[in-house]
Amino acid sequence: MKRIVILISGRGSNMQAIVERCADDGWPAAVVAVLANRPHAAGLAYAAQRGIATAVVDHKAYAEREGFDAALAAAIDRHVPDLVVLAGFMRILGPAFVRRYAGRLLNIHPSLLPAFPGLHTHRRALAAGCKAVGATVHFVTPELDHGPIVLQSVVPVRPGDDEERLAARVLATEHIIYPLAVRWFVEDRLELDGDRVRQRDGASQVLM
Ligand code: GAR
Repeated sequence: MKRIVILISGRGSNMQAIVERCADDGWPAAVVAVLANRPHAAGLAYAAQRGIATAVVDHKAYAEREGFDAALAAAIDRHVPDLVVLAGFMRILGPAFVRRYAGRLLNIHPSLLPAFPGLHTHRRALAAGCKAVGATVHFVTPELDHGPIVLQSVVPVRPGDDEERLAARVLATEHIIYPLAVRWFVEDRLELDGDRVRQRDGASQVLM
């Protein structure tokens, strides 16, 4: 049974999708803890109500990034995770933290990486005249929103789309691809080859 720890900063809809798929589809895994860097992260209530351990490591209590990262790592390691999942976790994590969880730290970002790392991805994609956008699940490396790509979703941009509409359509695909990527990980179906990730069964790594 693989142990999953999920980090959130807010709503936690991706966390919720993973918790539900894991429980309902009988993965060989359990979400053992949901941790947040904000005391009022809405997703914490959902996790607690599902009987999952929750904790807050408030970044505001730490003057330096290293102190926060160390406290967060201690809170994570208490749950002895096989996989750490960043699900809308909006803090930059330092290189020592990322190295500690190398190969077992996943993130989702709402763009077709390597395009548009950072914030306001949909706004920037619309301004750039992109005809397709999407989301990316990737292994985390020290570079922000960067690292070996596990799975992407592609969403067409429609005439009249604004940031909000686009974000909602991309988010709906996030709720499909993130649980799938996590499932592949816990079922040992992913193979890291340098900067590339191969799905051992040859399953499509893009949702169109
Ligand atoms: C999601 O759209 C996720 O891709 C994004 O934050 C949102 C969190 O929503 N993550 C990032 O921008 C990370 N760089 P959620 O809390 O409902 O899962």
